[in-house]
Amino acid sequence: MQEKDLAGVMEINDLVYKTTWSASFLRQQLRQKESRLNIVFELQEKILGHGALMKVVDEAHIISLAVHPSHHKTGIGSSLLTVLCQEAVKMGMKSMTLEVRASNDPAIKLYKKFGFAPVGFRTNYYSDTGEDALIMWIHDIDNPEFLAKIKTKKRIEGDL
Ligand SMILES: CC(C)(COP(=O)(O)OP(=O)(O)OC[C@H]1O[C@@H](n2cnc3c(N)ncnc32)[C@H](O)[C@@H]1OP(=O)(O)O)[C@@H](O)C(=O)NCCC(=O)NCCS
Repeated sequence: MQEKDLAGVMEINDLVYKTTWSASFLRQQLRQKESRLNIVFELQEKILGHGALMKVVDEAHIISLAVHPSHHKTGIGSSLLTVLCQEAVKMGMKSMTLEVRASNDPAIKLYKKFGFAPVGFRTNYYSDTGEDALIMWIHDIDNPEFLAKIKTKKRIEGDL
C-alpha cells in the first residue's frame, strides 16, 4: 500500500466499517515501516481490498482486513490474509491475533478456515455499538505445514 492508494482504501473502509480511520492516521501507519505492514489488492488499477498488521515482538496483530463489497466472496479476503501470514513470517513473527465483532460471521468463518481459534471475548469492545469482540489466535505460523496449507487458500493471483 502506498500513499496513492489511500483514497481507494478509505472508500472501502467507508463502505464496510462503522468507524473508519482518517487519512492522517493511515499515512502515519504507512510511515511505521518497522512495525506495520499495509497491503492492498489491486485489479486493473482499482483498489479492491486491503489488509494491515502491527508487529508486537513476535506477534502479528491484524488491525484491518477489508474487501470492496462489489467483490465480496471472490477470494480477495483469503488472498490478502495469505499474504499477511506469509509476510509476517518473513518479518520474524510466530503467531497472529485479531479482534472481530462477535456478530461478524463472514470474517469469523474466514479466520477459522485459516486455523485461527477463538480464545475469548472483550466485552463492550466496540464503542460505536457496544458490541463484544471475539479474540482469535493462531500460533506457529512459521511452521512449513501451515505455510503450505495457506498457499492453497490463495485463490486469486492479483497484483498484491
Ligand atoms: C471478511 C471479508 C474480509 C472476507 O473477504 P472476502 O474476499 O469476501 O472472503 P473470501 O471470498 O476470501 O472468502 C473466504 C471464506 O470466508 C468465509 N466467508 C466470506 N464471506 C462470507 C459470507 N458472506 N458468509 C459466510 N462465509 C463467508 C467463507 O468461509 C469463505 O470461504 P468459501 O468461499 O470457501 O465459502 C469481507 O467480508 C469484508 O471485507 N468484510 C467487511 C470488513 C470486515 O468485517 N473485516 C474483518 C474485520 S476483523
